[in-house]
Amino acid sequence: MSVTRRHFLMQLAATSGYTAAYAAMTTLGLGAVGVTTAAAAAPLLPAPGSGKGLRVLVLGAGIAGLVSAWELRKAGYQVQVVEARERVGGRNWTIRDGTRIAYTDGSSQTARFDRGQYFNAGPARLPSHHQTILGYCREFGVALEAEVNTSRSAYFLPDAAKNKPAIQLRRAVNDARGRISELLAKAADAGALDRELSVADRQRLLAFLTVYGDLAPDKSFKGTERSGYTVFPGAAEQVGVRPEPLSLDELLDPDLWTSLIFDELLIFQPTMLQPVGGMDRIPAAFGQRLQKELRLNTEVTRIHNEADGVAVTVRHRASGKLETLRADYAITTFPLPVLAKVPSNFSPPVQQAIASTEYDTASKIAWQCPRFWETDSHIYGGISVVKHVTSLIWYPSGGFHQPNGTLVGCYNIGQAARDFTSQPLAAQFASSRQVIDRVHPGRGAALQRPVSVAWHKVPYSLGSWVHWATPAEPAYVLLNQPDGRVHFAGEYLSQIGAWQEGAALSAHHAVAAIAARVASSAATI
Ligand code: ALA
Repeated sequence: MSVTRRHFLMQLAATSGYTAAYAAMTTLGLGAVGVTTAAAAAPLLPAPGSGKGLRVLVLGAGIAGLVSAWELRKAGYQVQVVEARERVGGRNWTIRDGTRIAYTDGSSQTARFDRGQYFNAGPARLPSHHQTILGYCREFGVALEAEVNTSRSAYFLPDAAKNKPAIQLRRAVNDARGRISELLAKAADAGALDRELSVADRQRLLAFLTVYGDLAPDKSFKGTERSGYTVFPGAAEQVGVRPEPLSLDELLDPDLWTSLIFDELLIFQPTMLQPVGGMDRIPAAFGQRLQKELRLNTEVTRIHNEADGVAVTVRHRASGKLETLRADYAITTFPLPVLAKVPSNFSPPVQQAIASTEYDTASKIAWQCPRFWETDSHIYGGISVVKHVTSLIWYPSGGFHQPNGTLVGCYNIGQAARDFTSQPLAAQFASSRQVIDRVHPGRGAALQRPVSVAWHKVPYSLGSWVHWATPAEPAYVLLNQPDGRVHFAGEYLSQIGAWQEGAALSAHHAVAAIAARVASSAATI
């Protein structure tokens, strides 16, 4: 991979999460080839009644656990879901006023937001093609609204060392298109593409570039209305004043390129969606329907495959009492750093796979504040990309024109997130405030009531997602198989890691695998 490509991908990973980089790698032909075929991609869910008389323990009530339990119950299995937290959802966690963010080191924060304000600390957007998780929203009547993932009014902020102001994205996107179109038109005009193009096609290409890049009749790019105005057209004599088009030199800054193609990545293409009122409306809908099956505040302390079933020892967190639960099968959905701490009699290769798989982390900061981005910059949702350790400013997609909103002032991953969140909270908040003030001059002081969530410090999560180098990695392949009567599920066991869709599909895979065993053992009796 060339340095430029590598740089581009790392930048993408830092600003848009691992899956964006993964998606780009796949797009660029650098990614791994999937180990499943299209035919195998949709496992058959069990028929209603086919699980009658069989017990399954589901360990963990995140999306993978909830989907597993729901589908197993539909098929007639007797299900118990064991969850250590006092809530369902796992990393699908919406923070509201009074939510306590407790870390493994004993420290804690309590969110202080106005009524109605919330912050999705984990998943915060749903691509429109993620029809498995969206299918559950449809099934349960979870109300959805558009998640405005990109706004042409938002900004790209260059590195502080460059000492340059933020660039509005409509300028960056449209001036880049204009400049490239101009160059291509000049090259075609000069005959540089004559080997590739017939005379007729050259004329058609020039006509296309005129439209695509908004070129002048002489095929030069002199700026475009698409890039907006410094003074908008108004009444009577007030004509619009446009900014100078960005130079090719400014546009060839690799830090900018992510922003130019961000919403072309399949996972970020509009329209994206979010549940009205918070992402946790999805687990809440499962939770309401699985009340009889759910055992919250119950920590798993041991998983044991037995000859004809599974024994799972749990500790009731309130009383400290231990209990051993037995079932025919189990599905464990814990993130691997959590599972690694649970004693089990899994085979040595499975134990090794669990212990050695490295988890990434992600950290986010949210502020409550007046909606200055709407009045100052006409930003309604979307993301400003900042070349700074905090990576972005993510504006709320709902509640437009209300007095206050919740602004996400940091979303970083990897070592950058580990280093950043090893600082005191005050330093993290100061860094976020300072960069927001650079994008929105004078507004840093308006930011109030910050909270931070660093996923590697959150008990029962201990991280965010896995970066498989390739889905053919031995640990990935191994954990997609059961160990004895214990099956594994979670977004990390799908080709859509770090997304709820992956968690739901992986749950389907585990449920289908149990059903297939049940069907084959019934056939041999
Ligand atoms: N799914 C995660 C995101 O949207 C990675 O940022």
